[in-house]
Amino acid sequence: MCGIVGYIGGRSALPVLMDGLKRLEYRGYDSAGVAYINGNGIEIKKTKGRIEDLRKILPLPAPEAKIGVGHTRWATHGAPSDRNAHPHVCGGIVVVHNGIIENYRDLKTRLASEGHEFASDTDTEVIPRLISSHMQKGLPFEDAIKKTLSDLRGSYALGIMSQECPEKLYAVRNGSPLIIGVGLDEFFFASDIPAFLQFTKKFIFLEDGQMCIMSRGQARLEPLEPAGSSKSMGVVIPGKTGVEDGPKVVEIDWTPEMAEKEGYDYFMLKEIYEQPGTVRDTMREWLDNPVTMLDSLGITPKMILGLTRLHIAACGTSYHAALVAKYIIEALAHMPVDVEIASEFRHREQLIEKNNLFISITQSGETADTLAAQREASKKGAFTLTICNVVGSTASREADSVLYTRAGPEIGVASTKAFTAQLAALCLIAIVLGMKRGRLIAAEAETLISQLRKMPLLIEKALACEQQTMEIADRIKGSRSMLYLGRGINYPIALEGALKLKEISYIHAEGYPAGEMKHGPIALIESGLPVVVVAPMNNLFEKTLSNIEEVKARGGRVIVITDEPLGLRAMADEVIEVPPAHTALSPFLNVIPLQLLAFWSGVLNGNDVDKPRNLAKSVTVE
Ligand code: F6R
Repeated sequence: MCGIVGYIGGRSALPVLMDGLKRLEYRGYDSAGVAYINGNGIEIKKTKGRIEDLRKILPLPAPEAKIGVGHTRWATHGAPSDRNAHPHVCGGIVVVHNGIIENYRDLKTRLASEGHEFASDTDTEVIPRLISSHMQKGLPFEDAIKKTLSDLRGSYALGIMSQECPEKLYAVRNGSPLIIGVGLDEFFFASDIPAFLQFTKKFIFLEDGQMCIMSRGQARLEPLEPAGSSKSMGVVIPGKTGVEDGPKVVEIDWTPEMAEKEGYDYFMLKEIYEQPGTVRDTMREWLDNPVTMLDSLGITPKMILGLTRLHIAACGTSYHAALVAKYIIEALAHMPVDVEIASEFRHREQLIEKNNLFISITQSGETADTLAAQREASKKGAFTLTICNVVGSTASREADSVLYTRAGPEIGVASTKAFTAQLAALCLIAIVLGMKRGRLIAAEAETLISQLRKMPLLIEKALACEQQTMEIADRIKGSRSMLYLGRGINYPIALEGALKLKEISYIHAEGYPAGEMKHGPIALIESGLPVVVVAPMNNLFEKTLSNIEEVKARGGRVIVITDEPLGLRAMADEVIEVPPAHTALSPFLNVIPLQLLAFWSGVLNGNDVDKPRNLAKSVTVE
């Protein structure tokens, strides 16, 4: 959903901005642009396309500008084009924006009646024009910014600079993520942490309704109160601590290398291979003493005994993790679990009560619909827990409690390692809930815990199928459509396999519960249609075999993921073997070949798998 960056300090701004934009390109790649101030005033370079296209139109050598802003766009209002690329400018005021201005049409009409002629079709352009309009009516620059923000409805993270005030950089947040990087005698702002990890590990997480005014020597936080008021919320002076009640500076323990490809051609493949480590890291704190987990999350034994229902809301891949959790929690803790897509949850009457627990699952912690669902649940009196990957994200700050997945920065747009890390967190919750509610006997809990301990090793073994998935991907790459079938706890894995395939390879794919096939989708099966079946050896195995027979009888090409390959080799066209696991834990392993199959299908179809078309990593608009 667009990435924005800004810099002020002693370095040459342009290379810093370009480096930051490159690392945020996963957020959108329809167009890119930068603006900087040098001896000639403001210079703007922008173009349709990617950061590399922008690089081609930049002056060489880099101009001696020490302040600048940049933008990489995921189009919402106005087609991807040069004219709609950010930054937008009016009267020497430059703006980059991530978010949506909902009332931009009214504002545009108002500005047009004052004589403004718009140079783009974007919602953003009203912002520099409004600031300029307020200044023409006599307001000083900072007051004009605040007055403008009070005119806006919607969500935004903004970077603003002005030709008349070249020693200051402004960053504002209302509903879209924004962080301030604190360096030595320099400041950065960005939509996400990886943008500037190579320069600093110290960050301020702006809250909604805050403006940060940066100069080389200090950063000052102010509330977005009406023009004229400038009550400081604290000052950060690099190298020194801020004032007592000043903004909290958080030190992040991610390294820049964690956000690099480390020899892989694609982030997605690197992240698939990181899963043994990221699952281990997510569980590390709890495996030796799981019973303490819920207590330390603020979920007390009294609360657990009083709990009548659990609600989980999430989007996309995180929603699939939630579906897996429903199976595990209901089986191990005997507690009813409602799972809902966050964008649906928030727009209907929710029967949430005070003795309910609400869990949001979100890799980014910034997904607009998930945040809205979490707020709604909180309003209704539920205790809110978020399972989240990004420290300091909005979800983590707003929830009553946070369980961090330790997947590190996920850069590939298609989520992989965040998913298995979420599964790890959810399995632990299910086991502990089961124990605390007296539904899971100690011996069974110990069996599950000891298998979770082995999970990193089992995932490593499952990863050995990569070559085979590449060969299968090559054989099916011309397909226009595919079916994914699974039963029970592996039905969400079929959904996840289908989602991964469509977003990366652009092959249409449907995930279905295998038993439901005969109620409709079986009509799609024709000679050669690839049908992926997740068939672990469990109480549903024989029923799944019948589904395989039904597909074969109609000429479908069956690709099976199983821990019981012997009997299946004669039936299926392709058999991908994964290590055996307890049913509750089998999703960890079954998803691995599906991630790899999607990855190779995308690569062999010639797609940019790290940045699939029309998608953005963090969906911060509704
Ligand atoms: C799919 C994918 C998306 C995200 C979804 C939720 O590969 O990445 O479906 O899972 O946008 O994002 P988070 O988890 O950040 O809330």
